[in-house]
Amino acid sequence: MINNKIKKILNKKNKSKIVSLTAYSKNIANILDKHCDIILVGDSMANVLYGLKNTHEITLKNIIQHTISVKKGIKNSLLVVDMPKGSYKNKKLAKKNAKKIMKLTGCDAVKIESNKKNYNIVDELVSSNIPVMGHIGYTPQFKNIFKIEGNTRKKAKALINDALNIERSGAFSIVLECISSQTSKIITKNLKIPTIGIGSSAFCDGQILVTDDMLGLSGFYPKFVKKYTNLKKIINKTVEKFSKEVRNERFPTKKNSF
Ligand code: KIV
Repeated sequence: MINNKIKKILNKKNKSKIVSLTAYSKNIANILDKHCDIILVGDSMANVLYGLKNTHEITLKNIIQHTISVKKGIKNSLLVVDMPKGSYKNKKLAKKNAKKIMKLTGCDAVKIESNKKNYNIVDELVSSNIPVMGHIGYTPQFKNIFKIEGNTRKKAKALINDALNIERSGAFSIVLECISSQTSKIITKNLKIPTIGIGSSAFCDGQILVTDDMLGLSGFYPKFVKKYTNLKKIINKTVEKFSKEVRNERFPTKKNSF
């Protein structure tokens, strides 16, 4: 069902840019909520939180647990949740798992990594009143090599076709990941629903980054990531200070004691 938060996102098309970031916990979500239109509980938690080499082992339980935490920090943003690999293999399974995610977390929508083999899944979920965000281009659940997508005429045509079919299947928006600027521009121009880019140029209707990357925490900084701060350095200095003060017996003082 299209709620007011989704309507707000749809209304931004061709008017104002959509701001989106990932979160996996309440405290971070609470900070992002003041600034973001969409918060995504991404399966990127595999790399960022769990130190895994890809997203494939993230389970429904992981996703639900982190979304319950994130939801506690959110008042305004649209909460979108990644369906993990294997959780939407067929229509029946997709519907069962998406319903479970929606019911247990109170999120607004699910995201699935889409291609021509699963337009029918988008259709099935939308018909069951589950709002869906699509995701095309570099889709880590199905591709092992991180590379630019849609940079030949043939590949561009296939991606444009995917995007149009995902829109026809009822998705309310679509993530474009690592798609060449020109192809992203064509997709964005030809869709009525908003495109959210990651490494896919300023032509998209909105932008998403993995929060730990843009905060300088993750150590993963491909060309499309702008490090807005170096939180790793800040945390390191802070922890160093704590460690010195404990060792030098300058913490705790009377002020910190009962
Ligand atoms: O899992 C994730 O964080 C994502 C974004 C990179 C779009 O899918």
